[in-house]
Amino acid sequence: MDRETLIKSLKEAAETTESSLKKMLECRDASFPELFDAMAYTTLAGGKRIRAFLVLEFARLCGADPASAVPYACAVEMIHAYSLIHDDLPCMDDDDMRRGKKSNHIVFGEANALLAGDGLLTYAFEVASSNALISPEKNAKAVSLLASFAGPRGMVGGQVLDLRGEKEKLSYEELYHVDELKTSALIKASAYLGCVAADGGENYFEAAEKYGQNIGVVFQIVDDILDVTGDEKTLGKPIGSDEESNKTTFLTYMTIEEAKKYAYDLTEEAKSVLPPDERGDALRELADMLLTRNK
Ligand code: IPE
Ligand code: IPE
Ligand code: MG
Ligand code: MG
Ligand code: MG
Repeated sequence: MDRETLIKSLKEAAETTESSLKKMLECRDASFPELFDAMAYTTLAGGKRIRAFLVLEFARLCGADPASAVPYACAVEMIHAYSLIHDDLPCMDDDDMRRGKKSNHIVFGEANALLAGDGLLTYAFEVASSNALISPEKNAKAVSLLASFAGPRGMVGGQVLDLRGEKEKLSYEELYHVDELKTSALIKASAYLGCVAADGGENYFEAAEKYGQNIGVVFQIVDDILDVTGDEKTLGKPIGSDEESNKTTFLTYMTIEEAKKYAYDLTEEAKSVLPPDERGDALRELADMLLTRNK
C-alpha cells in the first residue's frame, strides 16, 4: 500500500469513529451538562485516531467487517482521551495545551477534568460491553482485555513509573518497561480488540501482541524525540515538557540518531509478524509512517 492510500484510510477511520463518538457524547444528562461538555471537549478535538485505525484494521485483517468494531474503536479512543486529560493535569505533566487547544483542566478546572477522565474511562466499558454488532461473549472478552491493558498492570502502572522517572533516573530496562506500559499497552489493546471482533480472531492475538508492543514503543520514542525537535503548532501540545520536568526518556540514554535507528529496528520487527500478503499491507505502511511522523 502506498502512503497516499494509507492516509485516505486513516482519514476514513477517523471520520467514522468521530461521528460515532459525537453521537455517544451527545447522550448527555441535562442536570450536569458541564461533565459532557468537558468529556467532548478533548475527545472530539481531533487527534490522529491511530488507535481507532488499529482496531478497525486488525478487524479487517482477521476477516471481520470493520464496521462491527467501530464501538470498540470508540471505547479505545475514549480511554486514550481520558489518559491525555489526566496526563496534562498539574499533578502529572502539567501541560496547558492539548490537540491544539487549551488543556481540559485550563478550561473546565481540575475537578471537572478529573471527572471528565473518570467519565470517559467508565463510559468506554459501557460502550464496548454493549456493542450490538458483536456477541455478548465477545464483548465480555473485549472489556476484559481493555481493562487489563488500560489498568494497573498496563497503562496506569506505566504512568506511575513515568512520574517516578522525574524524581529519579530510571534504568534503561525500567524505561523500556515504562513505554511498554504507558503507551504500548493501549496500542496492543486496540489490535487485540480488532481481532476479538472477528470469528477466529484469536489466531491473530500473537501478531497483535508483537506488532502492538513494538509500534507502541516506537510511538513513544518518536513522541519523546518530537518533544525536543517538534513544532508546537504542528503537534498541538507543548514541546520541552520532558526536559522541564527532568523526565527519564529514551533521549536520556541515546542520541536522537541512535533513538531513530532503534525505532527503525523495532518497526522492522513489528512488520515481520504481519501476514506477508496484502492483508498486512496497511499495517506495514502504518508502521513506516509512524516512524517519520511529525505530529
Ligand atoms: C499522545 O498520543 C500520547 C502518547 C501515548 C504519546 P497521540 O500522539 O496518539 O495523541 P493524539 O490522539 O494524536 O492527540
Ligand atoms: C503519555 O506520554 C502517555 C499517556 C498514557 C497519556 P506523554 O506524557 O509523553 O504524552 P504527551 O507527550 O503528553 O502527549
Ligand atoms: Mg506523561
Ligand atoms: Mg504528557
Ligand atoms: Mg510526550
